[in-house]
Amino acid sequence: MSLTLTDLSRDPWLRPEVDALIGANMPAFMSWESPGNWRWHGMYDRYPAHQLCLVDGDGRLVAAANGLPVRWDGRAASLPSGSDEVLVEAVDHGPPDRADAVCMLSVSVDPGHRAAGHAERLLAEVRRRAAEDAPRGVVIPVRPTRKPRYPLIPIGEYAAWRRPDGRCFDPWLRTHLELGARQLGIADRSLVIRQPVARWEEFLGHPLPGPGEHPLPGALVPLRVTEDGYGTYAEPNVWVHHPAGLPTP
Ligand SMILES: CC(C)(COP(=O)(O)OP(=O)(O)OC[C@H]1O[C@@H](n2cnc3c(N)ncnc32)[C@H](O)[C@@H]1OP(=O)(O)O)[C@@H](O)C(=O)NCCC(=O)NCCS
Repeated sequence: MSLTLTDLSRDPWLRPEVDALIGANMPAFMSWESPGNWRWHGMYDRYPAHQLCLVDGDGRLVAAANGLPVRWDGRAASLPSGSDEVLVEAVDHGPPDRADAVCMLSVSVDPGHRAAGHAERLLAEVRRRAAEDAPRGVVIPVRPTRKPRYPLIPIGEYAAWRRPDGRCFDPWLRTHLELGARQLGIADRSLVIRQPVARWEEFLGHPLPGPGEHPLPGALVPLRVTEDGYGTYAEPNVWVHHPAGLPTP
């Protein structure tokens, strides 16, 4: 099926569709209040041309990629702590006077259209655009898609897992690495959601009577409940870097 590439600067009416696509493909708690989530729509307002959309012939949204321009000196050590920090900086203090790189914060493909190359097409488009105005390329705090099955494995170990054929174990991380991205490090607390235990209990449908690490469906690591009556989900991501320009076939 041939899809048309557009973005929210050209087609702002797609904005609620982008939210709906992301919401349908993430656990619900991922859009709860966090420093980054508070600014998510601020990213659409400030950087609409960086919110890419693939639509079908009937105008239905099939895939979306959300990003924004960042300053970055190219060193792993100077990457932000994760997606929360990127959004706070870019929305509260941006746009940067000059973009060194683009940071991609989310890619979503409708489940009926997976494994069809749409995610790769969006990543290639971001790299192509970066070649024009963000010479250090594209940095991404990747949320590995199979990690929720292994919440007790430290993310650094998980990211290093390889299949018997030598390819990366995680499918989404594999897509990045095989498009020529390099793994730069781990963002241990990329997105932090801290909420009263009662809200987590309502979400889970069962009580959390004591502090400790509790399983959280769809999460990459357990939920940490503390004596103060709060539960904190601190999502770890894997920083990867794609060079600017189209990947060589
Ligand atoms: C992450 C995401 C955008 C990737 O899109 P995609 O179309 O699956 O991407 P790819 O085509 O690169 O697929 C990646 C791998 O998963 C496999 N895969 C994708 N969908 C699959 C499915 N339904 N069944 C089996 N395998 C599937 C692909 O075959 C590919 O494996 P390969 O490298 O061995 O070929 C998509 O899975 C998604 O929207 N997930 C929910 C949102 C999310 O987690 N986003 C990432 C964090 S922001």
